[in-house]
Amino acid sequence: MKSKLAVLGLGAALLASCSQQPDVSMKDFMAKQVQPTAKTYWDTVQYVSDETGDHEIVPKTDADWEKARKAAEDLGKFGELLQTDAYSKGRNPDWKTFAEGLVDISKQAEQAAKDKSVDKVFEVGGTIYSVCSACHTIYPPPVPAATASSGEPT
Ligand code: HEC
Repeated sequence: MKSKLAVLGLGAALLASCSQQPDVSMKDFMAKQVQPTAKTYWDTVQYVSDETGDHEIVPKTDADWEKARKAAEDLGKFGELLQTDAYSKGRNPDWKTFAEGLVDISKQAEQAAKDKSVDKVFEVGGTIYSVCSACHTIYPPPVPAATASSGEPT
């Protein structure tokens, strides 16, 4: 209770003293860096069904595997960045837990690519998705504030 009030107070102070809106850079960071990098990893192994049957898209060359490994490494760096003040300031402690989750899974993702394991890359890719979604469930992209507002107009 006490700490929650303190956090709310800090948020208000930040809003009052800081004209920069942190979530603008967050949106850009997510849309232009995190999302494309995750997609590179997700695209590494794909199962596609069409009229000619089921196809497995898998890395063919060392360069393909290296691309996946690099994407995993970059996701880990993004997880570390999310823990810095620039992105975590004013948020609850669970924020860093989510960001650490991204760092942890990125290590498994990198290992799977190093091992050139098709199954592992596919499996870890699914877990990456859960890690992204977990944070978005608690810190969703902003929605119109009409019903979320605490101010009752009476
Ligand atoms: C530590 C929390 C956290 C993690 C982990 C996280 N995100 Fe986000 N993400 C956010 C927040 C907060 C926003 C809302 C940004 C805003 O204000 O628009 C967001 C927004 C987004 C958006 C929408 C951007 C837009 O154009 O509005 C995409 C896409 C996205 N995240 C992708 C990902 C992917 C992919 C991952 C996993 C690899 C991921 N995120 C992991 C916190 C997180």
